[in-house]
Amino acid sequence: MRTLKLASLTALAAGVMMAGSALADPITIKFSHVVAPNTPKGQMAEKFKELVEESSVGDQVDVEVYPNSQLYGDDQVLEAMLLGDVQLAAPALSKFQKYTKQLQVFDLPFLFKDMDAVERFQNSETGQKLLTSLEPKGLIGLGYLHNGMKQLSASEPLRVPSDAAGKKFRIMTSDVLEAQFEAVDAAPLKKPFSEVFMLLQTDAIDGQENTYSNIYSQKFYEVQPYITESNHGLLDYMVVSSARFWNDLPDDVRPVVEKALDQAIAYGNDIAAQENQEAKQAIIDSGKSEIIDLTPEQRQQWVDAMKPVWDQFSDEIGQDVIDAARAANNEG
Ligand code: SIN
Repeated sequence: MRTLKLASLTALAAGVMMAGSALADPITIKFSHVVAPNTPKGQMAEKFKELVEESSVGDQVDVEVYPNSQLYGDDQVLEAMLLGDVQLAAPALSKFQKYTKQLQVFDLPFLFKDMDAVERFQNSETGQKLLTSLEPKGLIGLGYLHNGMKQLSASEPLRVPSDAAGKKFRIMTSDVLEAQFEAVDAAPLKKPFSEVFMLLQTDAIDGQENTYSNIYSQKFYEVQPYITESNHGLLDYMVVSSARFWNDLPDDVRPVVEKALDQAIAYGNDIAAQENQEAKQAIIDSGKSEIIDLTPEQRQQWVDAMKPVWDQFSDEIGQDVIDAARAANNEG
């Protein structure tokens, strides 16, 4: 009798535990970003959702992707993350200066000769160390994601630095980008990405800097008759989460989610160059914006005007970090 009672109690307890785990709330990962779904970041986010859904933790983890600043703009997303209201984001590297100064290295004008050099630097010891630079603020860097090189769009043709003098340019929240435009006597304005189209359309600003992918998907080319192919700076991202959320993921869940994220980042990085190429072609085909190629002499004028910004920020960033980034141009 006693054995029977014990057995039924054990069965009851097991049943309660099973029901408990079956009913346990899924873990929700809200991935908030500011760009369109048909961009390298937008597609990376969708790929991550797809990979998690297909994985062994697909029934335990829900991924919700919010594009186009639907949930948060880049100016609020990191605070929201620290409050636990969003779990993943991939802001531009230019948008972290409130949290660390070192990532400003990525904003230095004419620093990287091409995306291969960027990739080498990000994979170097120094680049990997920068992924941990947000940890004192409670954020964890999970990987770099490419978009590509920025171009200058404007209401008038920009061929030499003096063409930019006196013009208003929207920039991301970065003091380096501010100094970069001040170096050519332009007037930079820090504004959220979601406002750029309206600012351009209403002539509140004269121009902005971005990748072809963003210029196309946000329709900037429809209200900017000229795009100078300057390749003067980088627009890449850091995929981040709050350390508290990430480290609290159950031990059987975190590695699977991490693997999905690594695969999604690799996918995003693989398609970024092609996305930008296709966006450039679509802009050309639209006939709405003329793409200006610089002669080597014209480009050199931009380099000469903007490069002094490196020295202005070398103390904040660290000369060793800048040197490591420069060295990546000479390898490979
Ligand atoms: C982004 O690509 O995430 C936005 C870039 C910008 O703010 O210009």
